[in-house]
Amino acid sequence: MKRIRITGGSRLAGTMPISGAKNAALPLLAAALLTDEPVTFTNVPNLADIRTLQALLEGHGAEVDYAPNSAAKAMRIHTPIITSHTAHYDLVRTMRASVLVLGPLLAREGRAKVSLPGGCAIGSRPVDLHLSVMEAFGAEIELEEGYVVAKTPAGGLQGATYVFRTVSVGATENALMAASMARGTSVLKNAAREPEVVDLAECLVKMGAKIDGIGSDTLTIEGVERLRGCEHQVVADRIEAGTFAMAAGITDGDLFLKNARLEHLEAAASALAAAGVSLTAESGGLRAQRSRGTLHGTDITTEPFPGFPTDLQAQFMGLMCVAEGASVINEHIFENRFMHVPELLRMGADIRVEGRSAIVKGVPQLKGAPVMATDLRASVTMVLAGLIADGDTTVHRIYHLDRGYEQLEDKLKAVGARIERENDPTNGNGS
Ligand code: UD1
Repeated sequence: MKRIRITGGSRLAGTMPISGAKNAALPLLAAALLTDEPVTFTNVPNLADIRTLQALLEGHGAEVDYAPNSAAKAMRIHTPIITSHTAHYDLVRTMRASVLVLGPLLAREGRAKVSLPGGCAIGSRPVDLHLSVMEAFGAEIELEEGYVVAKTPAGGLQGATYVFRTVSVGATENALMAASMARGTSVLKNAAREPEVVDLAECLVKMGAKIDGIGSDTLTIEGVERLRGCEHQVVADRIEAGTFAMAAGITDGDLFLKNARLEHLEAAASALAAAGVSLTAESGGLRAQRSRGTLHGTDITTEPFPGFPTDLQAQFMGLMCVAEGASVINEHIFENRFMHVPELLRMGADIRVEGRSAIVKGVPQLKGAPVMATDLRASVTMVLAGLIADGDTTVHRIYHLDRGYEQLEDKLKAVGARIERENDPTNGNGS
């Protein structure tokens, strides 16, 4: 196993290219199953989660051709026929987003067998909404030995009006894909409005889907009989951009986040501005730098888009650990998404968790320590903390980082960080 060693104290400056969004690419790749024609995506990030979905799609009969080292980062997916309707536990357990094949398989084939997912250990993360919206479209669903077994009546899925009880990105995406090929009209209310949902909807429209209300919380879909191939560029990763904006802020640096878009980061930009970090639009990207000498304690509450994203909560807490004054971080999307707190405490942070809130009192200096993170965003927060800690920080279990951050060390090194990936002699089981 590998670990990452960071030597704190460097100021980050320069241009940081922002990759295609993992969370946009995953549903897009799944949508390619909807058609028997080839679909080509560009700007596909080279990440472990993308490889997992690629393997899953290949298991269903997709021919996948991926050139991660080419400039276009193109992935061509062609599924002339679906050869298997089963998404096996071995793959699905490693990544929750695997459940996104449910909608496409049901829409195209009228049946699917998908293992119940695993993924990051944040809260209980059920899939009840994914299942109940498919039921609203007429699917019959049973749970058998850890698998969701779903089939449609003769004639396939039937469009319907469905109101999500809570905003869910994944369930909205699954529903959009299914409704695109259901008979008649579907109306999805209280739908997620995240830029990744918009990217999927725009790609589906290129494939021939009829969707109204894109970007709003009410999506109206007129089902079509078949969808065709298309080319689509994956949107830039707003979470990666937000993470590097915080890296600039925490190190008193100056980063140009190439390809990042302010309209995808308004809530984070407001919170950062209050904390003393400016995020401003420039041609082709965003510039992140301190707007005043010190960081200031700033409260945030995570919410569905356009609110402050839960996927930036941990990183913002890292920033608050070294801000002047106190801040309250409220996590309203997921239970149990404070696993980074004990690790930050090991580095000398002052944080108290009360239910879904964390009260952070800034300290003048964090201290390097060996740390271990248990999910993707928690892991990258330890890297951010390591960038300004006194001495060396080693981050263990870095497979979480590889799931979601493309070439993290190379990118950070290129803007001045002292960071290395090295063998982990304390954890040599090779997994
Ligand atoms: C996606 C993102 C993830 C992000 C999250 C919230 C991907 C691949 N992942 O995850 O990085 O943190 O959005 O922005 O895009 N819920 C239910 N029942 C369901 C589904 C969800 O109760 O069937 C609840 C969840 O437990 C959670 C809330 O809804 O409390 C939001 O989850 P959801 O938006 O579905 O997250 P994901 O799509 O899994």
